[in-house]
Amino acid sequence: MKTILVVGGAGYIGSHMVKKLQAQQYRVIVLDNLSAGFVDAVIGGELLVGDLADKKALQQLFQEQQIDAVMHFAAHIQVGESNQRPDKYYDNNVVRTLNLLNAMVEAGVKRFIFSSTAAIFGEPQYVPIDEKHPQQPINTYGRTKLMLEHILQDYDRAFGLKSVCLRYFNAAGADPDGQLGERHDPETHLIPLVLQAAAGRRPAITVFGQDYDTPDGTCIRDYIHINDLCQAHLLALEQLLNGADSAAYNLGNGEGFSVKQVIDVAEEVTGLKIPVQMGERREGDPARLVADAQQARQALGWKPQYAELKTIIAHAWQWEQQYGKTVG
Ligand code: UFG
Repeated sequence: MKTILVVGGAGYIGSHMVKKLQAQQYRVIVLDNLSAGFVDAVIGGELLVGDLADKKALQQLFQEQQIDAVMHFAAHIQVGESNQRPDKYYDNNVVRTLNLLNAMVEAGVKRFIFSSTAAIFGEPQYVPIDEKHPQQPINTYGRTKLMLEHILQDYDRAFGLKSVCLRYFNAAGADPDGQLGERHDPETHLIPLVLQAAAGRRPAITVFGQDYDTPDGTCIRDYIHINDLCQAHLLALEQLLNGADSAAYNLGNGEGFSVKQVIDVAEEVTGLKIPVQMGERREGDPARLVADAQQARQALGWKPQYAELKTIIAHAWQWEQQYGKTVG
């Protein structure tokens, strides 16, 4: 049985990943500082509460446990905040991640799955965005992730650390079984906010800008189901464990939906009228982000199972209805 260390396994994507790894008979150790994660989101596996700033604890962890691979989900993810607090983002997303990589190198652990992002590409020069698209991030968040991609290339060359960088477009939806879902505080993502407005947990959803160069004037994004995202991680992990070389893949469904379309589908799924307000553009939002994920499909054999936006929103709605009740 292989042992996987999931850093940030109490968060949104990490917790879904832990569930999937367990189902595949991996032994899972979660390391999370609980700054954004939840103890009860770790269903299965062993939870260690700790921070990547603690180099000694990291060293000890790798000494005591026979770890085969590491998955890293413990980044700060808010674009706006990253521009205001670059110190916080460089510290967590770069410096602390480097601590993790150094502890791995020291212990001889050589397989790493990294959560990267579409934000490394910056303003799209063309869509869909493939792996050859120029990488010119326009915010601190994107820069921290691109720095890590470069660091990983150097660590492969120098130390033989093999990694797969997975560039997420818009992770969305929830565990189809209803055990897990999206819980950010504060929540900034479109689909949970739309559903909170549907449930009456917030007065309305504000559409950030309706004068973009898109058919209905609102921004277009490529939403990818959390389970499909985790499936891609699983396939990447299996390849690395089987001796594959380092790689980087864009992950999305290859289809874009506008903010207005998301709201329309959410009304259809919930059967509720969702209060909508028109607002100003949010700084740093590109008009259109759509992935070309052909490489992931070909090289990993990845096939999204829940590509329909309706399914993604239905699963998120199932979660909102049960989780929303517990938080009021
Ligand atoms: N939006 C609204 N109203 C809201 C929230 C969002 O209109 O209240 C719009 C945004 O302007 C954007 C779309 O909905 O056009 C999606 O916004 P999200 O905040 O849900 O997601 P982003 O596309 O901004 O961000 C995602 C990830 C980031 C990552 C980025 C680029 O959450 O971590 O993709 O990869 F940096």
